[in-house]
Amino acid sequence: MDKDFITEVKSNVNIVDVIGEVVSLTKAGRNFLGLCPFHGEKTPSFNVVEDKQFFHCFGCGKSGDVFKFIQDYRDVSFLDSVAIVAEKAGIPLPTVNVEFSRQKVSPHQSLYDIHKAAADFYHTVLMTTKLGERARSYLYDRGLDDDVIKHFHLGLSPNEGDYLYKALSAQFDEQTLLNSALFNPSENQKIYDAFQNRIMFPLTDDSGRIIAFSGRIWQTQDMSSQEAKYKNSRASLIFNKSYELYHLSQAKASIRKHHEVYIMEGFMDVIAAYRAGIENTVASMGTALTSEHVQHLSHHTQKAVLVYDGDKAGQAATAKALDVLKPFVVEIVRLPDQMDPDEFIQKNSTEELANFLTKQRLSPVEFLLYYLKPDNLENLQAQIRFVEQMAPIIAQTSSITAQNTYIHKLAELLPDFDFGQVEASVDQVRVAQRTHHQQPIQQESYRRRVTEMPFLRQPSPLQRAENQLFNRMVHHGFVLNDYRQRDDFQFVSQELQTLYQLLCQQGEITAVELSQLDEAVQNAWYLAMEENLPEDVSMDELYDIERTRQRELLKQDSRQIAQRIREQSNIGNDIAAVDELNRLIAQKRNME
Ligand code: CTP
Ligand code: MN
Repeated sequence: MDKDFITEVKSNVNIVDVIGEVVSLTKAGRNFLGLCPFHGEKTPSFNVVEDKQFFHCFGCGKSGDVFKFIQDYRDVSFLDSVAIVAEKAGIPLPTVNVEFSRQKVSPHQSLYDIHKAAADFYHTVLMTTKLGERARSYLYDRGLDDDVIKHFHLGLSPNEGDYLYKALSAQFDEQTLLNSALFNPSENQKIYDAFQNRIMFPLTDDSGRIIAFSGRIWQTQDMSSQEAKYKNSRASLIFNKSYELYHLSQAKASIRKHHEVYIMEGFMDVIAAYRAGIENTVASMGTALTSEHVQHLSHHTQKAVLVYDGDKAGQAATAKALDVLKPFVVEIVRLPDQMDPDEFIQKNSTEELANFLTKQRLSPVEFLLYYLKPDNLENLQAQIRFVEQMAPIIAQTSSITAQNTYIHKLAELLPDFDFGQVEASVDQVRVAQRTHHQQPIQQESYRRRVTEMPFLRQPSPLQRAENQLFNRMVHHGFVLNDYRQRDDFQFVSQELQTLYQLLCQQGEITAVELSQLDEAVQNAWYLAMEENLPEDVSMDELYDIERTRQRELLKQDSRQIAQRIREQSNIGNDIAAVDELNRLIAQKRNME
């Protein structure tokens, strides 16, 4: 697809119509307003700007054109988004590329096929055989019913060496059989099924294709043996355990709808949540959550709710996961009495689990307050160490109100500290971060950035600096607070100054308010929001912005003086010209 084609497609649709198909939009001033489909919100901050043909969310900051919207909303590539929009616009795809856009047959198709065949086979064994009947009653005892068994396509691997192999070997070539990881060759040349007498959980990729299995022992004699409780398919051409998450393909729609994903440890936990009516759930299958998992999830949401087992291991895994989940908004559910969600539903009820998961959420700092709290709290040294651990964590919280709440909570836990003392220690961290220009650890942003901007004119370096500064003020309260306290500060750009004053008065500007402002002011807002900035603000960045601003202001001054010198000498006013010249020289010195 060439540029012209893409431009043609874009100019033949109205972004308002395209987004309007999936988001209910109402007219607000010159723009359209709705609930953002990319993050959870109750009051609309998702703005569609018709004359610029792009969208911008005031809540989560996402913005872009019609292709970007389709890419993110449907989780497709840029080219696919063009194809989708082209279809809406009734524009046929260029013929050379028709081939390309057709669903390609994967080189691993036979591996997907054999997994599908195996899953159906296992399911049939569970649903129709004698052994299956007993395995099902094990599952019924654990609270599952046939609907749940079918929804998760659970199965049973037979209690025989090569049952599956016999069933499938005629249909698939040798390479496929070997690469599938479903069979193990033995020394005597015989081939055995990798899974025997286990309850089978099929694992799928994003598009729902089965790519591997996990099998659980279920008979009492096996439970007392040394056998691992769960056994997974070994890695294969189509299965990478540190990328795949259990139930993601089925959870996708619900994750989009609720703008968040629950991350649990195990299969039975995801199933418990499903029984409680919660479908936006995945499991990392016992392994630690990896950054690959997080990247994978970031295609679908930016918010995670961690529901790991209530035991020590689960809590330690939560603390680790918080690190990997840096680019996400995270909440934590701590289940009581060391239970996992499956045990919780067993002891309580589906309603109580649903209630607990949706209502009992902790922020990461609250979780860490509990998690890092030493046992010997009467010990002064232990208290000091605890405060020193928590102070930087609290100082990183963006809202001052939240910081104060945490300082209060921490002080309450400590017999020998009061609010002021804890606050002092948090302050110390803040000051240290400033004076050493300490860069907070650069966080990789998983958010895909808008590549195309609907603005043609390149902004000047001064405009860029001011745009970036204003962007930071909007998203990081402390930057705004810093500048607020400088009486002499003002933006050179009239429009940004207007926005800045509004921001100072109210702390935020809502989409509705913006839509009522001058068109030039609205444009200034969007330009500033389109700045591609890293997730975190570093002190260096702010200094750079400030330096650029100063330099550019001085340059602007010099240009004006030079202009006046020319004017004065043109009209023969040499004294005035020399005056201005002296000013210019002083100015240049200043700039050095
Ligand atoms: N797991 C695994 N291999 C093991 C043990 C566990 O892959 N040998 C994974 C499984 O995905 C399991 C998850 O880790 O669901 C959590 O393990 P655990 O808490 O031990 O099991 P439960 O989920 O509680 O399983 P169950 O309720 O069936 O006992
Ligand atoms: Mn369990």
